[in-house]
Order: sequence, then C-alpha cells, then structure tokens
Amino acid sequence: MKNIPPYSLLILILFTSCLTRNKTASQDKQIESLLSQMTLEEKIGMLHGNTMFSSGGVPRLGIPDLQYSDGPHGVRLEGEPYGWKSAEWTNDACTYLPALTALSATWNRELAHLYGEVLGAECKARGKHVSLAPGVNIHRSLLNGRNWEYFSEDPYLSGELAVPYIQGVQSQGVASCVKHFALNSQAYNQYTVSSEVDDRTLHEIYLPAFEAAIQRGGAMTVMAAYNKVRGLWCTESSYLLDSLLRGELGFDGMVVSDWNAVHNTERTALCGMDVEMGTNIKGNGKEMFKQYYLADPLLQKVQNGEIPEEAVNRKVRNILKLMLRLDLIGKAPYDTTGMAAKLATPAHCSIAREIAEESFVLLRNSNHMLPLNPAHYKKIAVIGANAKEVFARGGGSTKLKAKYEITPLEGLHNFLGDSAQIEYAAGYKLNKKAYKVGHWFTNEFETSDPQLIKQAVATAAKAELVIYIGGLSHDHGSDCEGYDKPDLKLPYGQDQLLEALLEVNPNTVVVLMAGGPVELGKWYEHANALLHCSFIGMEGGNALARVLFGEVNPSGKLTTTWCKRLEDMPDHVFGEYPGNDTVRFKEGLMVGYRYFDTYQIAPQFEFGYGLSYTSFEYSDLKMNPIWKDPDKEFDVSFSITNTGKRYGQEIAQLYIHQQQCSVKRPVKELKGFEKVSLEAGESRQVTLKLPRRALQYYDVISKSWKDEPGIFTIQVGASSRDIRLQKDFELKKIKNQPQGSYSEKQKKKYVI
Ligand code: BGC
Repeated sequence: MKNIPPYSLLILILFTSCLTRNKTASQDKQIESLLSQMTLEEKIGMLHGNTMFSSGGVPRLGIPDLQYSDGPHGVRLEGEPYGWKSAEWTNDACTYLPALTALSATWNRELAHLYGEVLGAECKARGKHVSLAPGVNIHRSLLNGRNWEYFSEDPYLSGELAVPYIQGVQSQGVASCVKHFALNSQAYNQYTVSSEVDDRTLHEIYLPAFEAAIQRGGAMTVMAAYNKVRGLWCTESSYLLDSLLRGELGFDGMVVSDWNAVHNTERTALCGMDVEMGTNIKGNGKEMFKQYYLADPLLQKVQNGEIPEEAVNRKVRNILKLMLRLDLIGKAPYDTTGMAAKLATPAHCSIAREIAEESFVLLRNSNHMLPLNPAHYKKIAVIGANAKEVFARGGGSTKLKAKYEITPLEGLHNFLGDSAQIEYAAGYKLNKKAYKVGHWFTNEFETSDPQLIKQAVATAAKAELVIYIGGLSHDHGSDCEGYDKPDLKLPYGQDQLLEALLEVNPNTVVVLMAGGPVELGKWYEHANALLHCSFIGMEGGNALARVLFGEVNPSGKLTTTWCKRLEDMPDHVFGEYPGNDTVRFKEGLMVGYRYFDTYQIAPQFEFGYGLSYTSFEYSDLKMNPIWKDPDKEFDVSFSITNTGKRYGQEIAQLYIHQQQCSVKRPVKELKGFEKVSLEAGESRQVTLKLPRRALQYYDVISKSWKDEPGIFTIQVGASSRDIRLQKDFELKKIKNQPQGSYSEKQKKKYVI
C-alpha cells in the first residue's frame, strides 16, 4: 500500500462503485426483459410451491424451479415431492453438524463460517438453491421447544454468529434463508397467536440479529413466520415485511413463507411476501399446488381486476433477482452426479468434530475432577440414555440422514480402546410418544423406572468412575419442534437417578446434553463435575471423550442464562407465556441476563459463563484512540494471559453500561467479544472495535437510534458476572442534540 499514490485508491473506489451500479442496472434490465416475456400464468407459477420443497420456474426462458432444503445443521433428508415421507434415497446421507446452540456456545466466528461452508457445499451437492437457515429467534422463553435451533438470548451474539454462518453458506452459491421473521418464540398456538411487543424492545432485542444477517451477512432470503404480529399474520403484514424488513432493514431479496403459513390471497399478494410454501391442501400430486392462495385463486383475482398485476410483478422481480444473484438463469441445474462422494467428506466431518469440541461448557469442576486421567481407571460405568441415543433424525424439520453418528458411548470406546472396561446401564428410558400434540402433556415425562434405576445404581457401585450422560432429547416436549416444554426439569426421573448414583459413587462426572438450560435437582450439591453440551452432531461422541480425558480443553460459554427455577424467568415474572390469542412480551427489554442483572436475581449459571482446565488473567484496559468521530468505530483493548499450565481458549466479553439515562436501560449489554487461543504462559492483546450503535438505545419518539451524553462504563470479563476490568468514560454533551444524522460541525462536538 505504501507505494500506491492516494489518488489511485480513489480511482479504485470510484471504479468499484461504478461496476456495482452497472451490475445492478444490467440486472434490472435483465429482470424487466424476462418479465416482459412472461405470461401471467407463468409469473404466478413462480409464486408458490410445486412440490413440498420447490417452487416453479419458466423452463422456456431458462428460469429453473427453485430447490429448497432445511438446515440448520445439515441438509434435510430428501422427501417425497408431494408428501412428507422420506424419498428413501440411498445417497443423501450428509454431514450432521452440531445444533445451533452448540455452535453459539463456541462463540467462534471462524467456526460459524466453516459451519456455513460445509452446509452450503452439501446443499449444492444435493442440488439445492436455498438453505432454510439459520434461525435467529431470541430465546425469550426457556420453554420454547425450538430454542436449540437458534443461537442465544442475546441479539448481538446471535447476529455476530449468524453473519459468518450466512456468508459461509452463500460462499458456496447457495442462498441462506434467515428465519423465522418475526417474534416467533413459542410453539403453543404458534399458528394463531399474535406477538405484541413495544417498539423499543422490537428494535433492541428482536430485530438486530435479522438486521445483521441481512445488512452484514447479505442473507438473500427471509422466511416469514407462522405467528401474527400486532394482529396480522407475518405472511400478510405490510408493516412487518414492507415497513420493517424491506424499509428499515433494507432487505431487497426474496421472502418465502414458512410451510403452511399463508392464509389469504389478497393480503399476501399485496404485501412484501413472495413465495408461498407448504400450504396444507388435501390431496396428492401436482394438482394440489394449484389451490395454493398464491396460485389459481391469485390468477383469478388478477384476471378479475381485484388485484393489480404489478403486485405479481413485484414478487417475480424479487425471485428473479435471487436467481441472478445465484447465477441460475439459463444455466444447467447444480451437478448432483456423484452426490454421495461430496457429502460428509473427511474434511467436513472433521469440521463437525472441531465445532463439537469447542461447544462444551464446563459448569462445575470441583477439586479439578476433570480432565480425567485414562491411566487411573480400569472400570468405568457409563449411565444414561443419551450415551446411546442418536439425534440426527429427530427434532422436527431439521431431521437429516447423518452418514454416521458417534454416540457418547461409542466415543468413549473409541478413545479408551482396551485400556478400560466400560459397563453401560440406561437408568431411564426415552419415550418419543410421551406427549399429546399441543401444549398439554401426559405425565409420562415424569415417570422413572425403578428397575432401571436399580440396575444403574448397581453398575455405578462396582465402578471406579461413573460417567453420567443424560439431559434432554428430541422427544416431544423436550428439544423438539411443534411442542413447548412443560417445565425445565430433567425428564424421566433423572433427578432421582442422579441422586442415587452420586450417593453410591461420588466419583461421578455428570454430562448434560440439552439444547438449553435445565433446572438442577438436589443432586447438584454433591456433584463435583458438570459438563454441558447441546446436540453435538455426528462426531459428538469422539469430541466428548477428548474433552473428558483432557485432549481438548473445554472452551464453550453459555449463550443463555441458566435460572435456578423456571419461575425466576422474566417472561414468567412479568410477562405472559404462552398467552392465548395474544402473547404480550411484557418483560420488554428484560430478556435473559438483562433481566437477571438489572433486577439482581441470582442465576444458576450466568450468561457467558464457562470454565476451563486452565486459567486466564485480564489486564491493561485501554480505550484507544479516543473516539472523536461518531461515524467511526472506537477501539477498546486489553490483554489476556493464560496463567495455567496448559493450552486453552478464552472468550473475553465486553459489556456496556450507561450510568444514568432518561430511559430505563438494562444494566449491561453485550457489545463485543473475542475468542482467544493461548499457550500456557502466553499473553495476547485483544482489540475490539465498537461502532457508535454500541452506546445507543432506540428512541421511540424520533424512531431512530439515539445516544444520550453521560458517563458510560466499559466492562470486560470472562462472563456477564465475572467482570475483570472496567473503565468509565464520558460521552460529552452537544448543544441541540439532533435526531437522525449529524452535521460535520456537530460530529466534532462528540468527544470522549
Ligand atoms: C418450520 C421451518 C421449516 C419448514 C420446512 C416448518 O415447520 O417452521 O423452520 O423450514 O417447516 O420444513
């Protein structure tokens, strides 16, 4: 760069912006030219499904059908075109990546990118154009059966991981479909319930991850959710899809409905929704798709003059734009020959393992019980149904056919070989049929099996070490689509079982697999080691063994607060959950740690918490350079040292606190983080770049982001409650604080 004269940079910038403008202009031209050659029937044929997972094209113009597939942690197994059964292909077994709550626990942006690359490459190999993921809904209620498919309770963290995930998928020539837009946070009544939230909460909690996904991730498609928002279904709300999504968030891509989320021809036709998918029509075969709201009923209404053809054109333009972005028009379909060899390649499987390894969160490790020394144990008892369970085919729309799935028990056998004798006992039984559909559950969830407990206790008593592997599963009412959880308790009598195991053998390591927090029973008081993970994919068992026996140092941290009791959760304290026709998000901004910290409620484990086999020290907090220009990012730097005896990774978190403000603000909000890898004794300086937005709140009067001068505190730490460094600074006042954009002169007055 040194030898390049400054004007050449300017020329380069002008040239690039010229190219972009020319590209857009030529794209628009191409779109208009295609549109002008299409009949009304052909256009409408593009606006709805023509199989369960494809929407129509116009072959004579080189416009292909669009092929969709579910994510988020692998390409869904191929289904029948006109029904929900498996197509029973023999070549669609793919990489089964860890669930999104596992990815988020890594707090690792590079891994999120790799995750997306694997998913995108395998989608393409399966001939798919759109990957229906990631979901960025916020963990508002811990009972939502789909939280494990989303990232976090925190909007910033969700966005930070969604961005590289999406870029990874799209780098492979596959569009990411960010979902479920918007405010879809429960299964109960989700097809009819209306989510009611105030404007500030909407902008500060529920939109930022979508905003990041669209503006920074460049997500090419968005899925409109099942529920209603402010009384209107998401698929027919102009407020949601036109004002917010396309207006405020600047989305210019294609909106697809969730499967069976469209209810009306006119309202859907006239808002920013483009493609109707999965509508529940009786019958089978191709003909049923003509009955979709955006199929024959729309054709008739346009022909009658009830709906203008321009409403149709607008949607077709969005679809064509997507096709041009993916370079699909006039091209051969994605090459699916030799498909099996492109799926679950050794490189992809090893990425799945790496992500799993970084996703473990060590919650307790008294007396340094972990890592285990394999040389110390010859007789190990492995107890718990999750030790032998496979998860790839469960959970709802995420189900996939994993090329293989190493269970924890297999992983332990692989790791230990003949060096130890492993005896297994289940202790309890999973029960996929335990629930009735809907919110109401049978009590089989509570049922323990005395015979199985007895057997497990006897096995544990004989062993030198017990590894308990339990938690939740994809059973209905657990971590599964279509149902909410009845409570946060460990199902099938696991509390009772753990109590008995710890009594007979205190040398017990407890591993809880669950897509989110669970309530811990009395047994926790006697447990020395507690390790948590989500559903960890095809290499999960191998990853677990490596963490337990110390080949991998756990480095995950919680992305959602673990409460002591469900009743402590803000949606229960203030709010409404699950609501009936309406669910009012009365807790407002006070979601997750924002609530626990502002209201000083003690969590079981706080947001951002997670231990390591080594230790880290923080020092030298600096804000440098001083922030003078509100349009520029400002730097915060500090050092981290690995003060222990082994290699490890630390997730340093930065929270902002405004000491006084005219509106109520949560006492802390995550605004930056970095995962740092350090050898024993090594130090590293970390610099986080914060945009002006990091200090702002959403002002409902001016409908814009606003900063209020005053004293702020920057807090840097190992978790939301383990703050190691902090510094106050003043954001100085300027006269006549403007709403919206600032003049150059005003900018200069903002000096810290
Ligand atoms: C889910 C979506 C999914 C779609 C297609 C729906 O039930 O809500 O997340 O993409 O099905 O399988």
